[in-house]
Amino acid sequence: MPALSGGFMDLLNLARGFQAAKMLMVAVDLAVFDFLEEPRSAVETAAWLKADARAAGIFLNGLAALGLLVKEVDYFKNSDLASLYLVRGKEEYRGEIIKHMEHTWDRGWHDLRYTLEVGHPREADPEKWVDAKPERDEKEVRAFICGMDAIARDLAPKITAALDLKQVKRLLDLGGGPATYAIAFAKAHPELRATVFDLPAPIKIAQEQIAKHGVSDRVDTLAGNFLQDDIGRGYDFIWVSQILHSHDESQCRLIIRKCLEALNPGGALAIHDFYLNKDGASPLGPAMFGVHMLAVTPRGRAYTFGEVGEWMAAAGLNPPEYLRYDEGDAGILVGQKK
Ligand SMILES: C[S@@+](CC[C@H](N)C(=O)[O-])C[C@H]1O[C@@H](n2cnc3c(N)ncnc32)[C@H](O)[C@@H]1O
Repeated sequence: MPALSGGFMDLLNLARGFQAAKMLMVAVDLAVFDFLEEPRSAVETAAWLKADARAAGIFLNGLAALGLLVKEVDYFKNSDLASLYLVRGKEEYRGEIIKHMEHTWDRGWHDLRYTLEVGHPREADPEKWVDAKPERDEKEVRAFICGMDAIARDLAPKITAALDLKQVKRLLDLGGGPATYAIAFAKAHPELRATVFDLPAPIKIAQEQIAKHGVSDRVDTLAGNFLQDDIGRGYDFIWVSQILHSHDESQCRLIIRKCLEALNPGGALAIHDFYLNKDGASPLGPAMFGVHMLAVTPRGRAYTFGEVGEWMAAAGLNPPEYLRYDEGDAGILVGQKK
């Protein structure tokens, strides 16, 4: 998102940003890009979509204007970008994260006024809410968890290279979702055994991924709620990635304390998140992510690395080191157990 330069068009473009977002989300949900690997007319596409021909024609022209399709004479075809990432069944398919974004609109963003008024989204009772709760629609859980993989798969090699895991025999990936990181760590370090801890529905997806990557002999899973259940012990390294921002301070402190108890002496806790600068209003990515958490969770927000570092030290870890890998706004705090 560009910074605002002060012109009126900046405001107008900001306000109509939802239009392109909604077009992409609807096109992905309808799997339009599956059909447009071959050039097709608007009429053919409308018939395939069971859509109105006039509406489909206008929609496809808009997608072409955005660069998601290429139009030649009266035929539409995927652009290279859409062909790479938005066709189901392809290795690089990332449509699930786009679907997840639409779900977050339906579940919270559309109702931001209400959240501002009462302090939490309408359907998120802070006393009962658990992220990716099992009663959520299966399609939504899959979009969320596979969506996390769509983001993490590019970061995992960089993070694996940035972390010192050479001496690690047992690793816990807490709230590991699709197990992207546990799988990458295990592949890079043949001596390492990892456990992925998550709620029951995401764990099923983690198991599919672990089997697909052929690391079932060294990566196992544990289903539970990390706020309430035992997370195991005897770990040399605990990886907590993109977890704290969904929780309030007391929950974050509890998670950190539980990790400390589960670590072997000399073991390390690494917390990966979108950290805000001290001012709380920059960088843009984490500041926007904080509003996203406000809109879709009962108690989440983005934290500064100072806040999280302080909680780690207060729990009894050595003062954490701040690791930036080359990924803009996200960083990793690593603290060792004394
Ligand atoms: C934003 S995702 C991050 C997934 C993964 N760590 C990553 O960085 O790609 C948050 C994960 O935490 C899990 N989670 C949230 N609350 C949990 C809880 N109380 N107990 C166990 N897992 C939880 C969610 O199911 C989800 O997989």
